Amino acid sequence: MNSDLSHLHPYPFEKLAELKKGVLANSEFNHIALSIGEPKHSPPTFVLKELARSVNKIARYPLTQGTTELRQSIADWLVRRFKLPINSLNIEQNILPVNGTREALFAFAQAMVERSDRALICMPNPFYQIYEGAALLSGAEAYYYNTTAETGYLPDFTSIDDNTWRRCQIIYICTPGNPTGTVISKPQMQWLINKAEEFDFIVASDECYSEIYFDESCPPCGLLEAAADMGNSDYKRCIVFHSLSKRSNLPGLRSGFVAGDAKIIQAFLKYRTYHGCAMPEHHQHASICAWNDEQHVLENRSLYQQKFSHALEVLSPHIDVKRPDGGFYLWARTPVDSAEFAKKLFAAKNITVLPGQYLSRTAHGIDPGEKHIRMALVTSPEETLEAAMRIKDFLQTL
Ligand SMILES: Cc1ncc(COP(=O)(O)O)c(C=O)c1O
Repeated sequence: MNSDLSHLHPYPFEKLAELKKGVLANSEFNHIALSIGEPKHSPPTFVLKELARSVNKIARYPLTQGTTELRQSIADWLVRRFKLPINSLNIEQNILPVNGTREALFAFAQAMVERSDRALICMPNPFYQIYEGAALLSGAEAYYYNTTAETGYLPDFTSIDDNTWRRCQIIYICTPGNPTGTVISKPQMQWLINKAEEFDFIVASDECYSEIYFDESCPPCGLLEAAADMGNSDYKRCIVFHSLSKRSNLPGLRSGFVAGDAKIIQAFLKYRTYHGCAMPEHHQHASICAWNDEQHVLENRSLYQQKFSHALEVLSPHIDVKRPDGGFYLWARTPVDSAEFAKKLFAAKNITVLPGQYLSRTAHGIDPGEKHIRMALVTSPEETLEAAMRIKDFLQTL
C-alpha cells in the first residue's frame, strides 16, 4: 500500500465529531450547523431545468476536455469577470472543465510535481485541507505560510526565503481565503508571479469564493487578471481554479474549471485523460447556463451581504471578528481555547462551529488557527441571525 496515505491527517470534521462525542446539546434549541462550508441557498431553477432537459446525454461517454460550448462559456465569463484581453484565452489550450475544484486541486499536484526528495508545495496556514493531502500524496513536502491577525490574515510572501522558493514547485493561494476571508491584492499576486518566473514554479490560485464579496464596487482580483495586467497575457506559470458550487449554489453538480498557462493545462489534460474524470454532458449543459448568467449570482451575493451585516451587528461588540473581504465564513478570535469554546457552545446553545486549529498546523513556531473559530454563514437569514443571538448570549457567560 502507498505509505504516503499514512501521512494524511484526520479530516477536520472527524476531529469535530470526536470533540462532540458524549456532549449533550441543550435540547431547548434546534441544532444550527455553522461548521460545514456547504452552500444552502437555492440553486437557480433555470439551471435545474436545463439539467433535467439534457439528461438524455447520459447515454454517451463525455470527453475529458468537455464540450467546445462549455469551454467557450467559461472563457467568455473569465474575460467579462476579470477584464482579460479578448482572445487571450484559447478554448482548446487554456481551459479545462473539472468535476469541482476539490478533485482538481488534488489531481493538479499529482500531475505536476516532479518527484524528488526536495519537492515542495507551499500553502496557506490555516488552509483548505486538500492542498496538504495533494502535496503529501504527490510525494512533495508541505510548506505552510502563516496568515495571522498580525498581517491582517494575509500571507507575507516576502518572509519565504530563497531556499524555499528554489524547492517550491507549486504554491497554492486561496483568495478569498478559506477560512480567513481575505483577498490577495493584485500587487501581491504580481510579486508572486515574478517570483514564480525567477524560481520556476507554478502559482495555483483557488478562487472558488471569488463571486461572494461585500463591496459591489470592488470584486476580488483574480490571478489571470493580475498576470494580464503585468503583460503576462499568455498566463505563464499561472493557473486558476473556479467552481459553480458557491457562485451558483450547485455543490452537487460538481462543476468547475481550471484555466491559465496553455503548457500546464495541456499537461493536466493528458493526466486527466488517463485519470478518467470527465464531467457528465448534462452537467456541462447545466453549467453553460450557470456561467452565462450573472443575475442569480448577484442575488446570491446580496443574500450573503444581508446575512453578514446582521450577524456582525450582533456579534462584533462581543467577539473579535470583522467582515471578511469575501467568502462566506466569519473567522473570529475566541477568548478561550477554540476547541473548548466549540464544545461549550454546542452544549449550551446547540450550535456547531469549527475550531480554527482543526484547519491549521504549527509552523514557524505558531499555530495560526489557535483561539479562532470558523463560522460558515450558509443557512437562511433567519437561522443565521438566531445563531448570532445565541452566540452573543453564550459569550456573555464566558
Ligand atoms: C477553499 C476551497 N477550495 C475548494 C473547495 C471545493 O469546492 P468544489 O469542489 O465544490 O468546487 C472548497 C469547498 O469547500 C473550498 O473551501
